[in-house]
Amino acid sequence: MPVAYLRGRPRPARIEWRRDAPQPQLRALPRRRPTGRPLPPGARPEAERAVSAVRLAIVGAGKMGGAVLLGALRANVLAAEEIGIYHPDPERLASLSERYGVAGLDDDALHHAERVLLSVKPQSFDSVAPLVAQRNASFISLMAGVTARTIARRVGSQRVIRAMPNLGASIGVSATALAALPEATPEDVTMARTLFRAVGRVYEVREALFDAFTGLAGSGPAFVAVVAEALADGGVRSGLDRATSQDLARQVLLAASQLLEAKSPAELKDEVASAGGTAIAGVRTLERHRLRFALIDAVEQAAERAAELSREDA
Ligand SMILES: NC(=O)c1ccc[n+]([C@@H]2O[C@H](COP(=O)([O-])OP(=O)(O)OC[C@H]3O[C@@H](n4cnc5c(N)ncnc54)[C@H](OP(=O)(O)O)[C@@H]3O)[C@@H](O)[C@H]2O)c1
Repeated sequence: MPVAYLRGRPRPARIEWRRDAPQPQLRALPRRRPTGRPLPPGARPEAERAVSAVRLAIVGAGKMGGAVLLGALRANVLAAEEIGIYHPDPERLASLSERYGVAGLDDDALHHAERVLLSVKPQSFDSVAPLVAQRNASFISLMAGVTARTIARRVGSQRVIRAMPNLGASIGVSATALAALPEATPEDVTMARTLFRAVGRVYEVREALFDAFTGLAGSGPAFVAVVAEALADGGVRSGLDRATSQDLARQVLLAASQLLEAKSPAELKDEVASAGGTAIAGVRTLERHRLRFALIDAVEQAAERAAELSREDA
């Protein structure tokens, strides 16, 4: 997909985000650069038509921005021609644009975007903020530790929503926290909900709870990975080969997480741990080694570290 280099383009009309809203008739960009041939009188270039269809500009199409982009496309929340991405390096932009099959935006097109997803690292925000700053735009930020009010101050718009997805977004099972400033419009909030529902579950929480959310949902996959590794080591120690042990640990976690959809953790534990059996012997050992305390503390420490990082970035 070619990069749309549009300079001095008039500001496009505001596009309300409603999936069922009638859409302008637009053709997808051709998979080649415009030839430069003169256009018939009154005709608009292909690139301009495509960029005027962009409803969401993504700044930072890396691991998380890319996961949200792919989720939105797969769930048909947005069509490819409704998404544009921005990168300051033209070669990188062209390759990202090609990889995701969406238009690349230049500085000017980005500046005029009505909705912006900020998914750069927090340290890149300084260079991005002046490019996206405008009073009327709506912003969704994934940046860990940068508060909605800080973003609002830097981009000059109070229509800011913070989102905190986790790695599960890459396979459609994210747990995403959302918090909107009161100035965000209902359409802004609907857009954010719909986007993140495309990559998993959405939890609307107060922004003050984002650090706690990061401690559990953001860092949790790492804790569970440690548990999976240790379970596999236990299998190896008991005589199973490494590959089988790892596969079993994965399968156990998968089964447990699916069973936990229908019952509480205590119910599941009690169901497996029958009188005088193997599981209760193992549970006793976990209690002796204070696994419960270790996990509670891990979540709490991770949440505290998230708060600490936010203060450093403030
Ligand atoms: N990964 C997670 O699990 C996770 C979870 C929750 C929140 N987040 C947040 O999501 C954000 C992105 O994290 P990530 O893990 O996706 O990082 P990432 O993979 O490094 O993605 C960042 C992307 O931004 C691009 N970029 C750098 N400078 C830019 C600029 N000035 N303008 C436009 N694009 C630029 C990078 O391009 P290059 O590759 O060319 O440098 C890269 O593609 C962070 O703020 C993080 O706090 C991440």
